[in-house]
Amino acid sequence: MNIDELNQVARAIVAERKGILAADESGPTIKKRFDAIQLASSEESRRRYREILFTTEGVEQYLGGVILYDETLRQSTRDGVPFAELLSRRGIIPGIKVDKGSKALALHPGEKITEGLDGLRDRLVEYRQMGARFAKWRAVIEIDEHTIPSACGIRTNTHALARYAALCQEEGIVPIVEPEVLMDGTHGIARCEEVSSRVLGKLFRELDAQGVAFEGLLLKPNMIIPGMKCPQQASVQQVAEATVRCLKRHVPAAVPGIVFLSGGQSAEDATDHLNAMNNMGPHPWQLSFSYGRALQAPVLAAWQGQESRVEKAQQAFLLRCRLNGLARTGEYGREMEKEAG
Ligand code: 13P
Repeated sequence: MNIDELNQVARAIVAERKGILAADESGPTIKKRFDAIQLASSEESRRRYREILFTTEGVEQYLGGVILYDETLRQSTRDGVPFAELLSRRGIIPGIKVDKGSKALALHPGEKITEGLDGLRDRLVEYRQMGARFAKWRAVIEIDEHTIPSACGIRTNTHALARYAALCQEEGIVPIVEPEVLMDGTHGIARCEEVSSRVLGKLFRELDAQGVAFEGLLLKPNMIIPGMKCPQQASVQQVAEATVRCLKRHVPAAVPGIVFLSGGQSAEDATDHLNAMNNMGPHPWQLSFSYGRALQAPVLAAWQGQESRVEKAQQAFLLRCRLNGLARTGEYGREMEKEAG
C-alpha cells in the first residue's frame, strides 16, 4: 500500500470547489429514476443518460470524481470513447461502486447488511485496470426511535466497511466509506445524532483495528437530520451545527475529506446545508459532496428522456454543480437558485 499515492488521489477528488457526482445507481435504482419521467430503462437509455452527464461542458471545475456502476464503467460515448477515459481526460477521476447491495441482516428484523466481499479483491484488480482510482461501499443503517440499529447491526456493517476499505487500499484504490443512517421515519434530529455517533465511533475503531490508513480514504456520511416524517423539522443552521459537532467528535483529522450523501434531501437543501457547514470552518478535513439525487433530480426533470431537451438538462446539471462548488467555500446563497429558470 502506498499511502502517499492514495492520499494524493483522495485530495484531488476534494480539491478546491470540487466534489463527487454519484452516478452509480444499480439497475433497479436507475429504473426507478427513469420511471418517474416515463422513460424505459434499457442499456442504451442508461448509456445515453450517463453520456449527457459526463459530456456537460464546465462541470470539470466542480467535479473531482464520478462514481460509476459496473455496467457504466464498461460503456462508452457514441464516438466510442470509454467513459472512464473521457472523465480522466477531463481531469475527473473515475470511481466504481463495488458493493452488491444490502440484504436483511439474519436474526435482526428491520436491519440490513451489505454484501459483496467475496471475490472483491479480484474485482478491484480488474476495475483498477479499467481506470477506476477510487471505490464506494454503502452500508445501510436503518433507524427508529428506540431499538434499531442494534449493536450487532452496527458492528457487522462497520466490520464489512473496514474489510472493504482494507482490500481497496491493498489494491491501490481509495475507498469511500459510506455508513448511511437513513432519513426515513419519525425520529428526531437528536436520535439521528446519537445513532450516527455510535456508527462513526465504531467505524473508525474498526478501520484502525484492520490497519486501514485514514490518510487514504474518504468518508461519505449522512448529515444529522430529522427523519422525513418527524413533525419537528430542523433549520439549516441546526443541521449544520449538529453535523459538524458529530463529525468533530468521531472523524480523525488525518481523513482528507468528508463527502456527504444527499439521502433524499431536496437539491436546494443539500446545497444549503453544505454551505452552512463550510461557513463554520475551517475544519480539519475538506467538507464536500458526493450527491446522487441532489445533483441529478433537476437534470432528469429537465431532460425527460428527450433529445430535444439535452441542452436544458446539461444547463441544469452545470448549475447544480456550480452551486455545490460555491457551497464548498460558503459562498452559496438561496437566491442563486433563481437562475435555474
Ligand atoms: P444520494 O445523494 O441520492 O443519497 O446518493 C448518494 C449515494 O451514492 C448513495 O449511496
